[in-house]
Amino acid sequence: MSKTIAISTGGGDAPGLNAVIRSAVLSAHQKGWKCIGIRNGFNGLLSPEMFHSVGGGTFELTPESVRGITHLGGTILGSTNKGNPLYFPIKQQDGSITKIDRTDEVIAALNSLNVDALISIGGDGSMEIAHALAQKGMQVIGVPKTIDNDLEKTSATFGFETAVEFSTNCIDRLHSTAEAHERVMIVEVMGRNAGWIALHSGIAGTADCILIPEIPYSIESIIKKINERESKGHHFSIIVIAEGAMPKDGEVSTIEHSSGNTVRLGGAGEKLLHEIERRTSKEIRLVVLGHLQRGGMPTANDRLLALRFGASAVRAIEEGHTDVMVALAPPDVINVPLSEIAKRTKLVPVNSDIVRTAKEIGINFGD
Ligand code: F6P
Repeated sequence: MSKTIAISTGGGDAPGLNAVIRSAVLSAHQKGWKCIGIRNGFNGLLSPEMFHSVGGGTFELTPESVRGITHLGGTILGSTNKGNPLYFPIKQQDGSITKIDRTDEVIAALNSLNVDALISIGGDGSMEIAHALAQKGMQVIGVPKTIDNDLEKTSATFGFETAVEFSTNCIDRLHSTAEAHERVMIVEVMGRNAGWIALHSGIAGTADCILIPEIPYSIESIIKKINERESKGHHFSIIVIAEGAMPKDGEVSTIEHSSGNTVRLGGAGEKLLHEIERRTSKEIRLVVLGHLQRGGMPTANDRLLALRFGASAVRAIEEGHTDVMVALAPPDVINVPLSEIAKRTKLVPVNSDIVRTAKEIGINFGD
């Protein structure tokens, strides 16, 4: 039986989103199914008037429209981390923000487009929305995406490897300038409240200290490491700090609360810089990699994973699954209930082999 599938990409973009879209559209097309793209998360359904200039909030995705996009970063559908239909922010007259549940409107809009199933590609927030929509009767398959690698129940998310590869290249480049000027270089990477990007790129890039949210740091421990290196004639140090890292007895550094409540992380590297500056005479420089980690071409592995997820999502629809997320469980892609993912964060286990390996090769975690 012919079906119509809607596809949405939500939350921060990650290299590989376009590969998922292409794979889902091509495999649906092989079955004679139609695909519709929703612009900017679910905003294309909730606020179609915003997309008047581009012909509306949704558009048909054909094999032709997904040609040549596997290697491209970003998403041809657009994305947003504003306007979550479960907690849609409405500004009141007194300036305060009230959040309302608009998932019924999403379902009504999907029904009016004769959509049989939805593929929701995103991170933890999108999986929570996907679960809610499935609970309301829509056939929904989630596809995990995040550079942060912090989603439960999948051994990998596409975008993470690309972010780690980029960050590692940056750390590699900083070694020579750090050594030439005998400086301490601090590199702040993304990852939200999980330290995966810092951990992987810090080890691969031979950092001297890696500071992650899972292990609050003591500034004295870091100073000790810098001084030890000095005494051995290594007059430079590289510190990789995750944006969510915090000092012992301290707090996560945040920039602002934007559009009613989303906490933006930022400032962890700067805070550390000032703390080190107060305690040593070394010159220190800070590099914040920021959104550069989300740009560019996905690595071959991330493309492959994304393509596998896209086809698996369509397969799951054909097999009649709903309220599940496709997940990597090597060597397979499996379906896991969305209820097991929503509102959970996969953190770095502090006694994992990878952390132990790092410590055994002399990397300091500030603990
Ligand atoms: O979740 C991906 C991510 O890049 C995080 O690592 C980071 O904290 C956040 O998104 C940044 O979000 P924004 O694009 O809103 O600045």
